[in-house]
Amino acid sequence: MGIKVKCELIKKEKIIEGIYKFSVKAPEIAKEAKPGQFLEIKVSETGEPFLRRPISIFNIDGEILEFIFQVKGRGTELLAKFEEGEKIDIIGPLGFGSFKVQEYKNVAIIGGGIGIYPLYELTKELKGKANLNVYLGFRDKSLVTCEKEFEAIGLNKLVVTTDDGSYKEKGFAIDFMKKDIEVHKVDMIFACGPLPMLKAVRQYALENNIPCQISLEERMGCGIGACLGCAVKVISGAEPRYGHVCKEGPVFNAQDVEI
Ligand SMILES: Cc1cc2nc3c(=O)[nH]c(=O)nc-3n(C[C@H](O)[C@H](O)[C@H](O)COP(=O)(O)OP(=O)(O)OC[C@H]3O[C@@H](n4cnc5c(N)ncnc54)[C@H](O)[C@@H]3O)c2cc1C
Ligand code: FES
Repeated sequence: MGIKVKCELIKKEKIIEGIYKFSVKAPEIAKEAKPGQFLEIKVSETGEPFLRRPISIFNIDGEILEFIFQVKGRGTELLAKFEEGEKIDIIGPLGFGSFKVQEYKNVAIIGGGIGIYPLYELTKELKGKANLNVYLGFRDKSLVTCEKEFEAIGLNKLVVTTDDGSYKEKGFAIDFMKKDIEVHKVDMIFACGPLPMLKAVRQYALENNIPCQISLEERMGCGIGACLGCAVKVISGAEPRYGHVCKEGPVFNAQDVEI
């Protein structure tokens, strides 16, 4: 269910225009958190907007949790106004479905846009357990973030793509991943990003019989399974049914959900 805590904002960083990294002191949440889980953040003390906003855990460092968010609308705009020293009301860690970290030979980790953030803690935790091949895709140069952080983990390969070629490789991250997998098989794909990217990764993994875990960043309301705001078609049982991304996910085996 997650723990509700008022966490001190230790460090606020504007990493690029419209994207902020917050480091908060949250020992109770940090102790329990697993890669792929998320936080439900109260973005203002006034009760407006009413709903908390879901943001992934980017990094767990002892008692400190880091998350990175892009300002999209009213909620994230208000969140960006918090200053160092202030307390933020956070519920976490949420999501029963986190990424499964175990020993693998080769893995591909693919993220797009703001979907790269939950993959950082995952990549860190997979270090020493697998050869890490990471593919990060962005729309253009102005939106590229966290390349250095991923690089510093010590990867087998890091490919950064932009749709328009304004930075590093031109094209979609998935195409670079596919080319590499033709040469070096992988035994797991981990993915998070925009829906079209996730659909393509899922399709490719199913067609090629590659185990794959995808994190679905659906729109959410309550974040705790109470509002049906995040339904996803689950096809793992005898009969298809609708499940909650916030409770059963956000990470699912690709073959278990229809997107
Ligand atoms: C499990 C989960 C983890 C997430 N992790 C991160 C993260 O690490 N970093 C980050 O920047 N964002 C993340 N998001 C997305 C983030 O929650 C939304 O961008 C945020 O809630 C928007 O709130 P807002 O009030 O600013 O915008 P709103 O006013 O609610 O919406 C503004 C615009 O953003 C779009 N939008 C809202 N929610 C989403 C969503 N979930 N996906 C795509 N578009 C959306 C709306 O359609 C609208 O166009 C995550 C979402 C989920 C469900
Ligand atoms: S967000 Fe309310 S049920 Fe998932």
